[in-house]
Amino acid sequence: MILVTGGTGLLGSHLLFDLVSRGKQVRAIKRETSNTGMVRKVFSYYSDRADDLFGKIEWVDADIMDFVAIDDALEGIDIVYHAGAVVSFYPKDHKAMLKVNIEGTANLVNLCIARKIKKFCYVSSVAVLGRAVNDGVSDETTFWQPSKKNSVYSQSKNGAEREIWRGIEEGLNAFIINPSVILGPGFWGGGNSGLFSLVWKGLKYYTRGINGFVDVRDVSRAMILLMESDISRERFIVSSENCSYQQVFEYMAKYLGKPAPSVNVPNALTGIAWRVEKVISFIMRRLPEVTQEMATTTTMIYAYSNEKIRKTLGFEFIPVEQSIKETCELFLRDHEEVKCHLPSAI
Ligand SMILES: NC(=O)c1ccc[n+]([C@@H]2O[C@H](COP(=O)([O-])OP(=O)(O)OC[C@H]3O[C@@H](n4cnc5c(N)ncnc54)[C@H](OP(=O)(O)O)[C@@H]3O)[C@@H](O)[C@H]2O)c1
Repeated sequence: MILVTGGTGLLGSHLLFDLVSRGKQVRAIKRETSNTGMVRKVFSYYSDRADDLFGKIEWVDADIMDFVAIDDALEGIDIVYHAGAVVSFYPKDHKAMLKVNIEGTANLVNLCIARKIKKFCYVSSVAVLGRAVNDGVSDETTFWQPSKKNSVYSQSKNGAEREIWRGIEEGLNAFIINPSVILGPGFWGGGNSGLFSLVWKGLKYYTRGINGFVDVRDVSRAMILLMESDISRERFIVSSENCSYQQVFEYMAKYLGKPAPSVNVPNALTGIAWRVEKVISFIMRRLPEVTQEMATTTTMIYAYSNEKIRKTLGFEFIPVEQSIKETCELFLRDHEEVKCHLPSAI
């Protein structure tokens, strides 16, 4: 039986769909506060048997920090996909993010070694690659470099990935994937899917940064292919293309039928923007719309090589434009559904 962590998130919900639609027996952990409604919604994008497939998942309540609950969840499990993590650029989440991502992963690794789990997949990130000092293209041999430009999120993922390498030394049969920015449908209120909502609402600004982007379906497929192979003790970058944020926003605008963001924000101004936003959000008692880490990340130029996974598995990626086009189609479908269900004005 398979255990999935992070099953209620963007990547985890797609992974759960791929696993149960292949007839795999799957247990997924969630927290008492988790919303499984989005998982059902994601299933409905890809199948008209969504409820039936969703019903095949065995859900158990377990916070990754709860050692006993995780130990119970591992009963009868031989394969683990660990996609659960706190993903945030908000300073208020920094402490919990470091704790959950590093200690939670260490807990899981220790229990999986003790229980002699057959194979383990860890979802790391390109954020752990030593890109801060690398002006060229990063690959799997580009290792972490301490830098003030490393976000707290990347520090947490690096700490977690180190727990996996430690586990491998102690006998865990594991592999690691390092996805770039994941694009996919469903979670329109935040994260990367929230970018579609921003463009829909008429985002005017773009920065000159470049990053790697990948379709969520490709990340899930890569995880399953690597799990079913003999490959372990290795890491793989999972990234379709390196694109500028300007290009990505232009694709989104094109397929949402909106004007593309046209005002370039020079790097120096992003520094002013997050500082002003910090003060305003403090006065207004709300979360800042731009944080220092968001501003820094979107102005940096990062590029990643996907050669290793393409050569090892013969893996073909969905082009970024196609991924954005198909995600926009689902965004528009959801938008129409919401409009249809709004009560008519009295
Ligand atoms: N999104 C990206 O662009 C990207 C890029 C590279 C790597 N990654 C990595 O890919 C993985 C999935 O990312 P995502 O975008 O799917 O994230 P997401 O949508 O934010 O989902 C995060 C998942 O982690 C779970 N989680 C958080 N804290 C937990 C805890 N204490 N105990 C148990 N579960 C917990 C969440 O459960 P709740 O529903 O209960 O909150 C949710 O299921 C993460 O490891 C992330 O670091 C993401």
